[in-house]
Amino acid sequence: MKTGMSPTNRPWFLLTLGLSCLTLVGLVFSLWELIEYRYFRDLDYVTLHYLYITRGIAGALLTVIWASWFILRERRRQEQELEQSYEHYRSILNHMPEAVALFDESYQVAEWNDAAERLFGFDREQVLGLPLPNVPAGRWAELRQIRDRLETEQKVLDHETERCTAQGERIPVAANYSRIPPVANRPQFYVEVVQDIRPRLRMRDKLLELEKLTLMGQMAAGAAHHLNTPLTAMLLQVEMLRGQMQEGGPIEELATIEQRIRFCQAFVQNLLQFARRPQLQQKPIALDEVIETVLTLFRPSLNLKRATLETECEDLGSRRILGDPNHLEAMFSALLSNAVDAIPTGGRIRVHGRIQADRIAEIHLDDNGPGIADLLWPRVFEPFFTTKPSGKGTGLGLAIAQNIVQEHDGTIQLQNRKEGGLRVTVRIPLPKEGSTVGTPAVEMQI
Ligand SMILES: Nc1ncnc2c1ncn2[C@@H]1O[C@H](COP(=O)(O)OP(=O)(O)OP(=O)(O)O)[C@@H](O)[C@H]1O
Ligand SMILES: [Mg+2]
Repeated sequence: MKTGMSPTNRPWFLLTLGLSCLTLVGLVFSLWELIEYRYFRDLDYVTLHYLYITRGIAGALLTVIWASWFILRERRRQEQELEQSYEHYRSILNHMPEAVALFDESYQVAEWNDAAERLFGFDREQVLGLPLPNVPAGRWAELRQIRDRLETEQKVLDHETERCTAQGERIPVAANYSRIPPVANRPQFYVEVVQDIRPRLRMRDKLLELEKLTLMGQMAAGAAHHLNTPLTAMLLQVEMLRGQMQEGGPIEELATIEQRIRFCQAFVQNLLQFARRPQLQQKPIALDEVIETVLTLFRPSLNLKRATLETECEDLGSRRILGDPNHLEAMFSALLSNAVDAIPTGGRIRVHGRIQADRIAEIHLDDNGPGIADLLWPRVFEPFFTTKPSGKGTGLGLAIAQNIVQEHDGTIQLQNRKEGGLRVTVRIPLPKEGSTVGTPAVEMQI
């Protein structure tokens, strides 16, 4: 949009003005001649002279009035254009998603858009003409450096820094700067375009955390691999020694050593399972069979605790899911072992599952243990987090179970039951209609 009369327009404007004035003067004179010829033909020389003078004055006056009106009309049009252009520029500024501030050499704010108002909580009217209100105390030197850089560089991009809000909160931001050189009699300005990067930083932290975990996993896998072989050998040796030894004292010590080696072995195997995440060998399976296999393994420990076990999983047999039976057995073992550890002697465990809405296999595992204390909720799925005494829990059971469920595109959820104890709910989606899962003899390659 044009603002004011451009140099290319000016000659045309002057030409139009000049021509229209000449036409006006011409018209006045011609009209005068006609009137004089018609009515004042017989006047004497002196009166005629006065008439000519009057004609000159009237012509000049009319031309001045016409020229003033013409110039004023042009100026009003220019002002309207300027106003519209300003409105347009403010609307662009206010529709920008980033916070924009325009400031001069002495950091006084010349413009402040809506996004800046929202992000920093300072109103435009409140900050115009004042030094930038959102620069924290320790960041002025940095801003001065950027201003100096802009004397030689065109732009400073993606500069990560801090800005503060009206409430005094410091927020991390990424800012882009550029310089608007002086135009006509206006000084130079600087533009600061600021973006709140809290979500970006959160994502970066998560990625770092993930990288750390992957690295830890790799290290753990290496360590576990090296430890597993000597541990198995030692265990064998202890078992053989026990057989060879006479009845008496050392047998008890051997039993303790054996128990500790077994814990180390379980830990190492859990670590391996957690860190390696081998490729899934998926095939169509019925979850009720998987659960039954796991329950069979746990029956001795349940008997030892004189625990009651209720199962109601027949419905799960009506549809097959696509899964890795070994992984799913490991997942249910981790959950069931937690339940067995949690219940008191004579306690109760209930496993019930069904196909929900023809889409999802849903399994609940209820126990009547103490449930999970409020404080522990954020940490239960954390690898190595355990409340069990040293030498008893690795803290990897739930982390492994969660990994396996996620590998099957499912979800796992824990919740304390109203009647006491914990409910673990595992949901695994069924394959989409039309897939070949219904034929159990064929193994699916994913
Ligand atoms: N059924 C449950 N009842 C009460 N607390 C539970 C239950 N399941 C898990 N927890 C809590 O969650 C923690 C973490 O469980 P997780 O299975 O990851 O490790 P763990 O059981 O301590 O160790 P491991 O699995 O090696 O035996 C447990 O220490 C326990 O505090
Ligand atoms: Mg466990």
